[in-house]
Amino acid sequence: MKFIVSACDLAKVKTEGLVVPMFEGEKIAGDIKTLDGALGGFIARSAKNGVFEGKYGQSLSTDSLGNAPAGKITLAGMGKREELTLERVRQAAGGSARTMRNAGIRNFATGLAMIRPGGVDEQSVAQAVAEGTTLALYSFENFKSEKSKKKIENILAAARSKSDEPRLQKGVDKGVILAEAACMARDLINLPGNVVTPTYLAEKARETANKYRLKCTVFGPKEIEKRKMGGLMAVAKGSRQPARFIILEYMKGPKNQKPVALVGKGLTFDTGGISIKPSERMEEMKADMSGGAAVIGAIRAAAALKLKANIVGLIPSTENMPGGSATKPGDVATSLSGVTMEIINTDAEGRLILSDALAYSKKFDPDCVVDIATLTGACMVALGYYASGLFGNDDQLIEQIREAGEATGERCWPMPLWPEYEEQIKSEVADIKNVGPRWGGAITAAAFLKKHVSGKWAHLDIAGTAYNTEKGRPYLSYGGVGIGVRQMISFIEKRLGL
Ligand code: BES
Ligand code: ZN
Ligand code: ZN
Repeated sequence: MKFIVSACDLAKVKTEGLVVPMFEGEKIAGDIKTLDGALGGFIARSAKNGVFEGKYGQSLSTDSLGNAPAGKITLAGMGKREELTLERVRQAAGGSARTMRNAGIRNFATGLAMIRPGGVDEQSVAQAVAEGTTLALYSFENFKSEKSKKKIENILAAARSKSDEPRLQKGVDKGVILAEAACMARDLINLPGNVVTPTYLAEKARETANKYRLKCTVFGPKEIEKRKMGGLMAVAKGSRQPARFIILEYMKGPKNQKPVALVGKGLTFDTGGISIKPSERMEEMKADMSGGAAVIGAIRAAAALKLKANIVGLIPSTENMPGGSATKPGDVATSLSGVTMEIINTDAEGRLILSDALAYSKKFDPDCVVDIATLTGACMVALGYYASGLFGNDDQLIEQIREAGEATGERCWPMPLWPEYEEQIKSEVADIKNVGPRWGGAITAAAFLKKHVSGKWAHLDIAGTAYNTEKGRPYLSYGGVGIGVRQMISFIEKRLGL
């Protein structure tokens, strides 16, 4: 699929399909008025009789029957102009692109990049259009014998004037890079556990590194043991698949600037281990490496965007299996941080492997560490599908990540981390235990991670946001969301003032 940015008149553009954004409660004017005239007043009539009023999420399609240069015309309701947000643009772009594809159209033009949410520059609008479209047109067909024949080839993003074109083009290019990186993460999530093993994840990281000339280091079981990554070792014990510890380094920022460290949970399949999970929906636990996929995706995006930033990605990766040599409840492991951990429940494995990665991040003397992990079902209970849990030890860092979530539509919500929660993971036999009491499970998990960090740190619990099984947003498909890729890039840009 390719975007072409070009100044044109929506009423005159010759195209198979045309997407026309419409605002609620506004008189039709300009290009749209001309178009309405060609359609014999169809648009005005639809508004009058209440079929299409431009309400947000509404859409109406018609065939022009040769009365306009465009074949199929889809009106995309944008709601009230003063309520317009970039997320609405993203969703409208996604929804209308799918309408076009479903109609069997291969090339269409869109007027979405022409609109202006209050206070937002045109480049960001174009970026949102490209993101929403690219994300919406993603489909995972690797295992389908019959692939879908409906494919969009070219999209013309209409600009208001020639002078707008370069800025829109910049936004489109950026949006495509970000969405494609998120789609790479989606592929990794959607591919099953028998394909995406720790070895496969490491190979993908290396492939990405080679493509963008980044440094990539992968530790296998021997190096993991030699380096005393006791949490990762304890979880890997029950599996036949060898563990990996993946390090990606993108260092294109100022020489003296400390890197941002991104840590992603790369659990390629979570059975729960000896504390085995119920079988219902266990297949979704192939997505337990979504945090790791997000880190690979974010670093790929940073490289493709040529961000002037220093970023280190750390991904501990293993399966959590109940093999004959698996860790047992009551076993004690020592993290690379030196903290001893009593493993009460082998299903609380994410925090164990993250403890080593958080401790290892100190080697890079980072400005801050942000981890992203499908960590707890409890976070899903607390926030549902529409927000990741946000924790940390630095208010400014937390606020920057929250803002990045708002800007990208990958929203997150701050949760408390008071000392009382840390009390709850004190162990009778070791320094800490890997589960607290039943309630507040997302917070005690974060409190556990906090024991292994020294500097500025934030944690995103993406258990509820990483995998989509609902028909919610028009640019999401079933399965992997690719959550965190766009949010982390936006966060890094904010933090470094890029
Ligand atoms: N990977 C799961 C968390 C999860 C649950 C992610 C649902 C996505 C959807 C994690 O390793 C886990 O099993 N956590 C346990 C912790 C409990 C044993 C303290 C949980 O949330 O039940
Ligand atoms: Zn688990
Ligand atoms: Zn898990």
